[in-house]
Amino acid sequence: PELFQPERVNSKGFDLTHAPTLAAIDTARAPFMAHHWQATPLLAAPCAPEAARPCENPAGPADPPGTVAFASAADVQTALAHAAPWDAPAQARAKTLGKAADLYEAHFGELFALLHREAGKTLPDAVAELREAVDFLRYYAANAPDTPPAGRFTCISPWNFPLAIFTGQIAAALAAGNAVLAKPAEQTPLIAHRAVQLLHEAGVPRAALQLLPGAGAVGAALTSDARVDGVAFTGSTDTAQIIRRAMADNLAPGAPLIAETGGLNAMIVDSTALPEQAVQAIVESAFQSAGQRCSALRCLYVQEDIAPHFTEMLKGAMDQLSMGDPAQLSTDIGPVIDAEAHSPIADHIAKARAEGRLLHEVRTPNAGHFIAPTLIRIPGISALKREIFGPVLHIATFKASELDGVIDAINATGYGLTFGLQTRIDDRVQHVSERIHAGNIYVNRNQIGAIVGSQPFGGEGLSGTGPKAGGPHYLPRFATPAPRRATE
Ligand code: NAD
Ligand code: ALA
Repeated sequence: PELFQPERVNSKGFDLTHAPTLAAIDTARAPFMAHHWQATPLLAAPCAPEAARPCENPAGPADPPGTVAFASAADVQTALAHAAPWDAPAQARAKTLGKAADLYEAHFGELFALLHREAGKTLPDAVAELREAVDFLRYYAANAPDTPPAGRFTCISPWNFPLAIFTGQIAAALAAGNAVLAKPAEQTPLIAHRAVQLLHEAGVPRAALQLLPGAGAVGAALTSDARVDGVAFTGSTDTAQIIRRAMADNLAPGAPLIAETGGLNAMIVDSTALPEQAVQAIVESAFQSAGQRCSALRCLYVQEDIAPHFTEMLKGAMDQLSMGDPAQLSTDIGPVIDAEAHSPIADHIAKARAEGRLLHEVRTPNAGHFIAPTLIRIPGISALKREIFGPVLHIATFKASELDGVIDAINATGYGLTFGLQTRIDDRVQHVSERIHAGNIYVNRNQIGAIVGSQPFGGEGLSGTGPKAGGPHYLPRFATPAPRRATE
């Protein structure tokens, strides 16, 4: 397929510097800022879910956004039995997905309120998330293939992009005509429920898109049943490995697994970099979305000659970040998703503090699961044994003669998602980009926020199987029927 698609137009989003736009957002969100949503399985036949349980607001226990009834084991069986591929021409599927994109945009006030209150997303993050979800719908619709679908596709998503990634997986599978069994993250079922309601309202048949809220057990059941023909998964590397094993034991041998997983992402800043530009890129990459992006910067390498001055500039920029209510425009950093996410990050910071490696820390609000943006000194990326999924940046220094060693150390982590480089030397850009193992390389800018259709997103090694989401090779993986097991 052509990389350049002149007919595709990305969503324009909202200009948050424009006062009338902000007033319109306030008006549209207002009815939903104290609303209680209820998520349930959305199946093609009657369901018998578990008892409803409360959903949490990560910014504060005083504002629960609603309740969820998880899908029961019987619901999983019902969904599998009633799943039917979307039997409509590609053009008709595309039109329906386009209508869903329009509905998402029309319901922006409700979706922003949900993103604030269930996922702790700040307003700029909520705007970007809605744009990305809409872009996925329109991009995959524009490229809907007329080939036979794989069949039944399980789509399992994480809480950190509860609308965009949840929608992206589903939109691709539906554009290719599959029957989708959607399993959202247990932390964000309300957003998923509302999204599926809008997709149904747009005309996606219920048998082609069923929602099964639940914890990992629901995902496990949906990835170990021989009736499933393929799996799209985004989440941690550990869970992807569990799913790969379950699929190998139970699904047809050629059943596709598209897994987009974690990262240990680095940035190199050399002594020719423009300091103001680099500091801004670092603050955005490490701390935006409270560092809860797979693409986020975790390990910064600064050339030794500029490190003292540069580190002071970085600390100054960190001091400007404000934490608090995600719905307020003045908030830069929202909470981390829940207590389970909070505790390993807090432990990691406490250990660094005890070892005298804590370089800087910003104040934290009292209520909610907040982690202050934090800067920790380390000797190099090999000191990080795993992804720390929060607003914690690690910093190391290097001498000019050590550049290739730094590249080797970054590659040796086994991850390969995003990488950033700040330099004014053209030859260095070429040298480093040729050697670094990363799916998305960004030069002299931040390393988050890939744009659907322009910057296909995905990693290699422990960071994912490919193909990249929002790129031309993604959809064909949903359109190839896998051979059935001989015993079926
Ligand atoms: P997670 O792996 O804990 O959960 C992801 C999803 O998998 C959830 O829906 C969960 O219920 C489900 N799940 C858990 N156990 C399962 C099992 N045994 N079988 C099937 N499904 C199961 O990840 P998370 O904490 O929700 O998300 C954060 C992680 O996602 C981070 O590692 C982040 O880097 C990664 N991520 C990657 C990308 C990417 O594009 N590469 C994007 C966003 C997030
Ligand atoms: N696609 C998201 C980003 O680029 C994860 O930040």
